[in-house]
Amino acid sequence: MTEDGSGDGDRTSGNPDDHGEGSPARVLRAGVIGTGIMGADHVRRLAGSVSGAEVVAVSDADRDRAARVACDAGGCRVHDEGLGLIKDPGVDVVVVASPDPTHERFVLACVEAGKPVLCEKPLAETSAACQRIISAEVAAGRRLVQVGFMRRFDPGYAEMKRLLDSSALGAPLLVHNQHRNEQSPPWFASGMSIVSSAIHEIDTLRWLLGEEIVAAQVMRPRRSGAAPGGLEDPLLILLRTAGGVLADAEVFVNAGYGYDVRCELVGETGTTSLVPPAPVATRAARAEGQRLPSDWIERFAAAYDRELQAWVDATARGTVAGAAASAWDGYAATAVAEACLESLAGGGTVEVSLATRPPLYA
Ligand SMILES: NC(=O)c1ccc[n+]([C@@H]2O[C@H](COP(=O)([O-])OP(=O)(O)OC[C@H]3O[C@@H](n4cnc5c(N)ncnc54)[C@H](O)[C@@H]3O)[C@@H](O)[C@H]2O)c1
Repeated sequence: MTEDGSGDGDRTSGNPDDHGEGSPARVLRAGVIGTGIMGADHVRRLAGSVSGAEVVAVSDADRDRAARVACDAGGCRVHDEGLGLIKDPGVDVVVVASPDPTHERFVLACVEAGKPVLCEKPLAETSAACQRIISAEVAAGRRLVQVGFMRRFDPGYAEMKRLLDSSALGAPLLVHNQHRNEQSPPWFASGMSIVSSAIHEIDTLRWLLGEEIVAAQVMRPRRSGAAPGGLEDPLLILLRTAGGVLADAEVFVNAGYGYDVRCELVGETGTTSLVPPAPVATRAARAEGQRLPSDWIERFAAAYDRELQAWVDATARGTVAGAAASAWDGYAATAVAEACLESLAGGGTVEVSLATRPPLYA
């Protein structure tokens, strides 16, 4: 973060240096917009396992829900509207965990107010909306936006990246992904398997390999009888990167048995894959097994903690977290998701062409 302070009344820049030599590191005052499943979980973590920040304000379209979460956080201000929370001079940093269609408006308001923002994925619903956020950040001249692609902070994915970067596996050739949920909600539509679920595989692929995805194809196997309504489930996605790596991603949101995320990376001289996250194996009734998580909150608990801690630490230092997804990453992921949606609708392979990457995101 730079020095301008953005004229926000009593707001400080988030840099501990602002408080003069010898003063204790300041605790960042966080506001959380959207207190549903993700927002309430972020509030719990910021108030509990994450150090260096406190939750001072929340906002939700459902005021009663916001009030309950505020109470669970030990009591904090409840704003009727997210924009009011962003303008609150007592709020230094903002978490956006409201529904996808609200992200662009809230993130743009944060950038305008000069406040660091952690926005849940996707950054915005369309690549055009993501580009408007990038333009605002570039005009501000500094990075303020982190996107909630928390898998970058998962110990398993982080170790896969470390191994790949160390050249222990040789050049990457193939990546196999599986993304299975126990059950989808009744309102879940086929496109959401891409923009809500597979967007995580899209981001981790770009991040693991450090290269852009240039083409996408979505294939539909026979539809599962467990899929509600007209949901196309499962889907098989094929992605090609600029360097010629091929990745497949099975997305099956009514797999019926638990939340199961897998990834195997195949290199020229070795492979690496995520191992099941269960701490123990159990033998009973003539069978051996490991418990599977019920959902993403359980499976990626460590990743959410590390993501928030990295955001708080970097923001307090006036920087951005190295591994974190930027607005550019949010844009690129949404652009690839759009190509997948086009392929889902029309079939065939769809090329992805990205805008020129501004130097701010070099
Ligand atoms: N990173 C991840 O692993 C992950 C996982 C799930 C969801 N998400 C993302 O997190 C966001 C929230 O998802 P969720 O599962 O918590 O949804 P949710 O429906 O449980 O919660 C959303 C909340 O936002 C509130 N809301 C609606 N409109 C609002 C507005 N204009 N202003 C303020 N609040 C508003 C709703 O009342 C609700 O309480 C979504 O963008 C979703 O894509 C990320």
